[in-house]
Amino acid sequence: MSHSEAASPLAADTAFRADRARRRFAALRRSDAPHFFDNAAGAQVPDEVVAAMREHLEHRNVQRGGRYDRSRAVDAMILATRRRLAACLGAEGPEEIIFGLNATSLTRIAAEAVRSKLRPGDRVVVTRLDHEANVGPWLRLERHGIEPRWWNVRGDADARLDLDDLETMLREGGVRLVALPYASNISGRIVDVAAAATLARAHGAWTYVDAVHYGPHGPIDARAVGADFLVFSGYKIFGPHMGFLWGRRELLDSLDAVREHFIPATAPYAYEGGTQNFEAIAGMAGALHYLATAEADAPPPPPPAESCDEAGAAAFGAAFHRSMARIRAYEIDLAARLVRAVASTPGATILGDADPGRADGRVPTVSFTVRGRQPAAVVDHLASHGMHARDGHMYAPQLLRAAGFDPDSGVARVSLCHYNTPAEVERLGQALHTL
Ligand SMILES: Cc1ncc(COP(=O)(O)O)c(C=O)c1O
Repeated sequence: MSHSEAASPLAADTAFRADRARRRFAALRRSDAPHFFDNAAGAQVPDEVVAAMREHLEHRNVQRGGRYDRSRAVDAMILATRRRLAACLGAEGPEEIIFGLNATSLTRIAAEAVRSKLRPGDRVVVTRLDHEANVGPWLRLERHGIEPRWWNVRGDADARLDLDDLETMLREGGVRLVALPYASNISGRIVDVAAAATLARAHGAWTYVDAVHYGPHGPIDARAVGADFLVFSGYKIFGPHMGFLWGRRELLDSLDAVREHFIPATAPYAYEGGTQNFEAIAGMAGALHYLATAEADAPPPPPPAESCDEAGAAAFGAAFHRSMARIRAYEIDLAARLVRAVASTPGATILGDADPGRADGRVPTVSFTVRGRQPAAVVDHLASHGMHARDGHMYAPQLLRAAGFDPDSGVARVSLCHYNTPAEVERLGQALHTL
């Protein structure tokens, strides 16, 4: 055990078993497996996801809604996955879960539906901390007379959203919706979405939360957060390429989503245009099962894909929450190590909070520049050491500009998750020192 591992604040019996989790990923078992530090762009998938997708394609690959057993099995699998997801997110029921292509397209669908309730002169708040997926669809409402209001980040140093600034805008009146991130995909900063949602609600505004970046890193209880919408990318939570949206049922049902005239006006069907990617939905259930059992010594068999009653869903959701809470605790320690490793690199400037002592306010994502080096060169250097990272503006150029970084050259980003280890962070630190 290295010195930094020995210094872990996690007691041995509470430490997350990353070694067990890693064994479940074919991509991490390979002898030539890289140090995968590009999880914010898309995570690896565990064996359960591959198995669930394969099972679907081999045994259930037909259109839903038919009067024959396989087609009924597709409907049952979709409902069972909705139930499990609803339980994992603390939703009131499966109708609150909407499947889609990805978070970007779901946000466009939601923005169009929200528009049905807005009038010219109404305002929507967008932030400079967000990925463009949660900015563009709201700015487009300007062509219908909806005014955007920018929630700026404060201070170059820690690039944070301050609730007082939101309150000022809310007090000015007219704000109908606040679009904000759960965590920044650049700085890793976690936003106090519960406080923002409470403020917004007190002023009669809805909140639309981009939970894409936070989703893989900790438990979320949708109703407890108090937001109105939370959007996720399945492929960032160890699932296949798809997205899902949680919304408050009473709100979803009151909006006018784009749909065929014979499709019910209620959630989820009003929001799910055309045919969904059924194998991805099956795979997502596999990812949830993996996450709920990530530390098991031997992977337990997945629950039946085509059935999930209320009691089963509740037990599944509770196991998922417990596991995600352990992942979160592990990642706080990992984040502190990561910040320390990058901050000690000669010439490095971290975008956002560079204090490892405040790792509980972030996820293990760190973006930075190194004096005299292009971010692309830094990432090339890491690739030559078998480390997969990323450079660019990561679709959040507003934040780079606001924090005093050049969006054209971008930043280097290292994004970790629960299957990364302190030993990997140590190697990253060594590689950065040989720049
Ligand atoms: C914070 C955040 N929001 C939204 C998106 C867009 O997600 P999707 O590819 O599912 O549309 C991303 C993708 O990188 C992201 O990091």
